[in-house]
Amino acid sequence: MQVLNLLFYVWNIASFEENRGMSETELYVSKIKDGTVIDHITGGHALDVVRLLGITGRENGTITIAMNVPSKRFKAKDIVKIEGRELKPQEVHKIALLAPHATINIIRGYKVVKKQEVKLPEIIESIVKCANPACISNSNEPVQSKFYVDGEEPLQLKCHYCGYIMEKKDVLQQF
Ligand code: CTP
Ligand code: ZN
Repeated sequence: MQVLNLLFYVWNIASFEENRGMSETELYVSKIKDGTVIDHITGGHALDVVRLLGITGRENGTITIAMNVPSKRFKAKDIVKIEGRELKPQEVHKIALLAPHATINIIRGYKVVKKQEVKLPEIIESIVKCANPACISNSNEPVQSKFYVDGEEPLQLKCHYCGYIMEKKDVLQQF
């Protein structure tokens, strides 16, 4: 009898989720009321995004991290949801370096009020440092770092001053 009850209970939940039109991947990830959803993050980079945003988990507001979610567009994607925070342009550029296909959704009152695909500018200034220690941008001279985006995936940033090619791993070390 108990087994039957349990089966009925499971069936009930399943049909409830179905009625709400939820897909299998959304079952456990709840919607947020106000804040930011960073969607379509390149698989494996959710924790890097969390780190570069300075999220420690000790602040107020719910943070949801979903990793390796099956995606139609890409093989697997990560999602980060931040309740009660909207991102600054500089933060969006940093995300673009690691996850060039990410979508930033601003949520207010449970609705998506703004959807922005991240985009790397052609020239990046001052967000990252040149990984070549001998580069003039690393000296005491008042020279701001400057890179040309030669490739997005895999990431290639060419230093304006010394020609050094920065890769994703060089960028990750700085965030
Ligand atoms: N989302 C959320 N909380 C809300 C509204 C939306 O967490 N109150 C999330 C959704 O789960 C989704 C993302 O924000 O991961 C974007 O929502 P939406 O535009 O409704 O989804 P899609 O149409 O699938 O987005 P896209 O076309 O960018 O794939
Ligand atoms: Zn350099």
